[in-house]
Amino acid sequence: MQVFQTIIEIQKYLLKINRLDKKTIGFVPTMGALHNGHLTLISTSKTRTNITVCSIFVNPTQFNDKKDFEKYPIQIDKDLEMLLEVNCDIVFIPSVEEIYPLGTKHDTDIDLGFIGTTLEAAHRPGHFEGVLQVVKRLLDIVQPDSLFIGQKDYQQCMVIQSLIEQTSLPIKLEICETVREKDGLAMSSRNARLTNEERLSALKLSQAIFYIKENITKQSISILVQEQTEIFTNDKLIYLEYLSVVNSKTLEPIHEYKEETSMSVLVAAKVGLVRLIDNVIIQ
Ligand code: PAJ
Repeated sequence: MQVFQTIIEIQKYLLKINRLDKKTIGFVPTMGALHNGHLTLISTSKTRTNITVCSIFVNPTQFNDKKDFEKYPIQIDKDLEMLLEVNCDIVFIPSVEEIYPLGTKHDTDIDLGFIGTTLEAAHRPGHFEGVLQVVKRLLDIVQPDSLFIGQKDYQQCMVIQSLIEQTSLPIKLEICETVREKDGLAMSSRNARLTNEERLSALKLSQAIFYIKENITKQSISILVQEQTEIFTNDKLIYLEYLSVVNSKTLEPIHEYKEETSMSVLVAAKVGLVRLIDNVIIQ
């Protein structure tokens, strides 16, 4: 496994692989504190491309909450051990100066339309601008054939899809299923910050979205959402930000079930001080 910290080094290495050896490159961008969700992206990339690159970079520009950034778990040595175990080929661990030599001012001009104003975008102002900025920068550096990202961050997938489409990048976007703990909680680097009590409360996110999915044809959407919202409201450890049934393609809210409409349930909640998100595609 090759580990690089500078753009010059990684590009020199990748240029040979790409141009001379004609190998396909799969890319998995992460912010570290790796778990099985990340490792599944690496393994999927390994089965579909010749060389897999994983980046570890806690991007300061996508944190709207300074405390969340400061408390973001960092465990580089453990991450490297895990990446070695799944035979990741290349790890890129740049510094903030390497990624933003001219400062961190946002510079992409992608038009996200409604998806840039709703749900995560509404609750985390500036977040997706930061994601767009860093993903564009990383894609320019790595120039992969395929990009592997997780459905766990559903709206982020749509944002990155817009980036690829609007900048005409020749990259195949591969969206991989959410990996969950045995009890259903979506794996997240932030789960490590939950106390035992909060960990139990956190389970309510996945329970709510799966309950709505299972019952969507049996009960009206507004009653389902209201019932599930009450479960959150009755738990003092949780502050629900949103629980919505939306059109999977546009993220417009859906109030009535229709067989022909693709729809998903998205949820975000603070459990103690830890902000968690989850989603499930209904159909
Ligand atoms: P991070 O939260 O570290 O996630 C890195 C990738 O892992 C993302 O594509 C995310 O959707 C995926 N992922 C996280 N949890 C997952 C799970 N339980 N199952 C499957 N995939 C999962 O998302 C980011 O970092 C950043 O915003 C980034 C794209 C790296 C830009 O900074």
